[in-house]
Amino acid sequence: MPGVSPKKEDTYLCTAAKIDDVRYISAFVPKHESGHAHHIILTGCTEPGSTDKIWNCGEMQATSGVDKSNAKYKVAPQCASGTRMMYAYAMEAPPLTLPEGVTFGVGEKFHLPYLVVQVHYKNTKDFKKDETLKDYSGVKIVYQHQPSPKLGGIHLSLTGGVIPAHSVTYMETSCAYNGRTPLHPFAFRTHTHSHGRVVSGYRVRGKQWTLIGVGNPQLPQMFYPVNNSATVRPGDWVAARCVMENNDDKDVAIGATQKDEMCNFYIMYWIKAEDFGKDGEQMCYSDFNGLNSEAWATEPAGVADLSSTIPGTDKMFREFYKEMRNAEDTMDELAQEMEEQFEPEEEPTFREDIDELYPEAGPLDF
Ligand code: CU
Ligand code: CU
Repeated sequence: MPGVSPKKEDTYLCTAAKIDDVRYISAFVPKHESGHAHHIILTGCTEPGSTDKIWNCGEMQATSGVDKSNAKYKVAPQCASGTRMMYAYAMEAPPLTLPEGVTFGVGEKFHLPYLVVQVHYKNTKDFKKDETLKDYSGVKIVYQHQPSPKLGGIHLSLTGGVIPAHSVTYMETSCAYNGRTPLHPFAFRTHTHSHGRVVSGYRVRGKQWTLIGVGNPQLPQMFYPVNNSATVRPGDWVAARCVMENNDDKDVAIGATQKDEMCNFYIMYWIKAEDFGKDGEQMCYSDFNGLNSEAWATEPAGVADLSSTIPGTDKMFREFYKEMRNAEDTMDELAQEMEEQFEPEEEPTFREDIDELYPEAGPLDF
């Protein structure tokens, strides 16, 4: 940051740097000595969210414009196009050195001529106390001009959907990997807002599910080493699940602001440098909590309880969930049967319909 002094709590500021040459980044060193940065995210962009020196990039705001409480800065996303997250710092995270021989390529050649750094200022009381205080938090990149034998990349799994009030809800996503070169995952990151309890990601090969990473999104959301080095090959699937808990009185939907929720699982992987561009689509999105997402259609074997249960509770949510899914299937079957058995001569009421099929059923409230 080029010396900022945010006064409003939870301010997200962005600044961009243009890369005129080609650089191969091998390590990220967070600059956070002042202790004012809650988190720092470095993203490669095809186009930055704004051409201003500093802008307000409060997480993916739905609309652009001027945030009145931070009127100094224009509101815009991190990138206007081509978003590739590369590094995330949170709470005392150490520098991230990529595995031997792996770099992130940036510059025009990689369609990432801009690096954008986002700093989250959660607590701003020091800036209010001292008008002259300025902050320079950011990320130092360690890079070379020499191409490396391996290139880093990021795969993002995410869902749309809703977490009903007073519920524990699974949000799931799965996609067939459509690249033409194996991905070698080496780090992962989870991201939700306040309702996320557990986020896990898997490599699915036939019926075999292998955990890539599992995390509590309420802990610092940085990149952690993978639990298994499960290579993702063409023909495999990538799947992710978020266990969400909503104790509020109203439903919470996936959306763009801090008041909404998010279910994100990031995989940091490498591919052979000569296979650049063959790593397929780097995003896997499932709508409606992933209810249509193929790999999760039947509760898969090998999905550990730790990916399905809220930590600190004995609630075997998995069992409950299975029952719910079965109940849904039974309902569907019943509906089907009713349709087949009952050919109305005149339009009956729904009530008559039920009475006829289930004469011993007690009174029903509609
Ligand atoms: Cu933060
Ligand atoms: Cu978010």
